[in-house]
Amino acid sequence: MLVKPHGLFSKALAGGWSLGAFNFSNLELAQAVVGAAVKLKAPVILQTSEGAIEYGGLKVLAAIGKQLAAEAEVPVILHLDHGKSLGKAKECIDAGYTSVMIDASKEPLEDNIRIVKEVVDYAHARGVWVEAELGAILGYEGAKGLVGKGTPDEFLTDPKQAARFVEETGADALAVSVGTIHGAFTGQEYIRFELLEELQKAVPALPLVLHGASGISDAHLRKAAKENVCKVNIDTELRIAFERAVRAYFNEQHDKVDPRDILGPAREAVQVTVEEKIKLFGSNDKA
Ligand code: G3H
Ligand code: ZN
Repeated sequence: MLVKPHGLFSKALAGGWSLGAFNFSNLELAQAVVGAAVKLKAPVILQTSEGAIEYGGLKVLAAIGKQLAAEAEVPVILHLDHGKSLGKAKECIDAGYTSVMIDASKEPLEDNIRIVKEVVDYAHARGVWVEAELGAILGYEGAKGLVGKGTPDEFLTDPKQAARFVEETGADALAVSVGTIHGAFTGQEYIRFELLEELQKAVPALPLVLHGASGISDAHLRKAAKENVCKVNIDTELRIAFERAVRAYFNEQHDKVDPRDILGPAREAVQVTVEEKIKLFGSNDKA
């Protein structure tokens, strides 16, 4: 069923587990995410970026998300990932999303606060959850040349700003920059747990969100999920699973021409990845 996030985030915060938030831009990815959640009795977050919305169309993706949620026997949150404007957040809220992210993290602090506050005012009046970002999570979304090198110190979330930011914006959850970057880079990316602890002290009752979780070690993800991180975003690893399955299909000889034969195994491969992540985050059997 489609749900509002509020109760689930409270449970995740109190219970030391984390909701998995998985990106989708088409039917198969969404089915894979919900299929994994149903199989493992896990609440889950289906999320679309602005790019996904541009690709699939807001009404189409919202319809896919809402219909799959309605058919699922587990709670499903439909979320806008990295919304960049009040206008986009409004469109998603009006289309039935139960949660939106407003990412004004590249703006100066005062502008970030003002923009988030505007979204919070609109969203809260409609019972919709708002995630904001303080500090910046780089990678494919960030500056070229920094990709694969981890997040430089100047982009990490400043604990001194966190309490003021949350108080003045009224945001429900905070995406924090603690060393991860967007993309499936391994080796140099890691979660700075000492910074995470400082942030938890600064905003103790606030659910934190970890972005750029693809490529992060299982041990770090498991540990983060036990902290105040209540939502972990995975995108790139789903794309990789999808691409590998499609590539494997074409590496064999086939005499049929049917998109279902190509995309069906990709859907299964993505579901396996989502299941692995759900177990790491500890959200299985929490529905
Ligand atoms: O907002 C989406 C994510 O933060 C996904 O990051 O592509 O590294 O998994 P990722
Ligand atoms: Zn992100």
